Amino acid sequence: MENKVAPGGVAHMQIGDKSVELPILKGSTGPDVVDIRKLYAEADVFTYDPGFTSTASCESQITYIDGDAGILLYRGYPIDELAENSSFLEVCYLLLHGELPTATQFAEFERTITYHTMLHEQFDRFFQTFRRDAHPMAIMVGAVGALSAFYHDSTNVHDEKQRQISAHRMIAKMPTIAARAFKYAVGQPFVYPRNELGYADNFLRMCFAVPAEDYKVNQVLAKAMDKIFILHADHEQNASTSTVRLAGSSGANPFACIAAGIACLWGPSHGGANEEALNMLKEIGTVDRIPEYVQGVKDRRYRLMGFGHRVYKNYDPRAKVMQKTCHEVLDALGKRDEPLLQVAMELERIALSDPYFVERKLYPNIDFYSGITLSAMGFPSEMFTVLFALARTVGWIAQWKEMIEDPSQKIGRPRQVYTGPVQRSFVPIDKR
Ligand code: ACO
Repeated sequence: MENKVAPGGVAHMQIGDKSVELPILKGSTGPDVVDIRKLYAEADVFTYDPGFTSTASCESQITYIDGDAGILLYRGYPIDELAENSSFLEVCYLLLHGELPTATQFAEFERTITYHTMLHEQFDRFFQTFRRDAHPMAIMVGAVGALSAFYHDSTNVHDEKQRQISAHRMIAKMPTIAARAFKYAVGQPFVYPRNELGYADNFLRMCFAVPAEDYKVNQVLAKAMDKIFILHADHEQNASTSTVRLAGSSGANPFACIAAGIACLWGPSHGGANEEALNMLKEIGTVDRIPEYVQGVKDRRYRLMGFGHRVYKNYDPRAKVMQKTCHEVLDALGKRDEPLLQVAMELERIALSDPYFVERKLYPNIDFYSGITLSAMGFPSEMFTVLFALARTVGWIAQWKEMIEDPSQKIGRPRQVYTGPVQRSFVPIDKR
């Protein structure tokens, strides 16, 4: 990656009697940043920013978010335009290469991904070692980490060709691994990928086909699945992406880095929120119970899952597409009157008008409607985060690749403010 940050002036910082000049840098859009790299050397202080709420950890040219305006761009293209007009594989190409592919480039990319979807046959035995009731995310973390034990020829991070092969392998194999995690949990035989099917169609077939009967992919569901993958493909420096970058900054192989990202995504404040959001809707159950539930949120007994976002202080643009997709899927499946949808719509209406949520800028996030949609499509809630991981893999890889190719890249190593005991002498056990 060619560094493109431009000089944008100087910030002055007064620390005691020391005055420090810090360069201000400009990106192509978004807030300027104060470059504090020399601060410690010049002023002997660190900055303190738990949760990185005010800290840019890298330069990136992949994804841009304006949380106040509710804007999300992949390589400059608005998420809703991509969801409406593009396909997940085209978006993968865009995220990895920076530009939309020509017809020839796309055909080649699609073929490469399609022909990498199978797993090494020995790999299937790896799944059998998990307990039959293992959470599919536990299987995902283990299985993706294990890819590095199977594909030694693409783990040299300094070789551009190997980086590309590992990127293709992960995008291609993630649906196969995710579908196997699902099949294993439901006790059904694994279904192999089919090269004549598209990415989302293939995934649905690997999840829902059984040897006992033919399976025809419902095109409304395949389109919805593809859209859901697009919506989740990248989201700049969120917790799991930062985890992938941090793991990768040490030179760890890409499969291990993506496994680290999956582990981070699992948490209920991140990718696990869609599972929690659906559980919450089920717990509320009926529209008449919403006021009581909302009161519990205001009393701070629990949070409204699927609401709020660290970055979006406006309607999450992905949530708008997700809401429309949810209606399309429920219509196609004849589940329009699904009680959970009624609860969701009423909860959204109340939250968008109630001062408690309005003042805190708590809008529905992507997870709010994705749980209902995925559940209607036939996925159990344990699979929701797995689907998120599948889709986010391309974003993680694009960000990992960008980091490795960034000349200013260094191993990630945050500092701390230490408040533990200062140096003291060891006391033998009989004297304590
Ligand atoms: N329900 C009720 N109140 C909330 C919620 C919520 N979901 N989210 C934030 N708040 C309140 C907080 O209590 C706080 O109120 P206060 O100022 O009176 O103390 C205020 O809003 C700000 O909250 P923070 O926790 O500081 O906001 P932050 O940006 O750190 O949190 C987060 C973001 C973690 C996503 C939070 O909104 C949350 O827990 N949401 C529910 C979980 C969820 O849906 N996560 C999915 C995120 S999207 C994704 O990962 C794809």
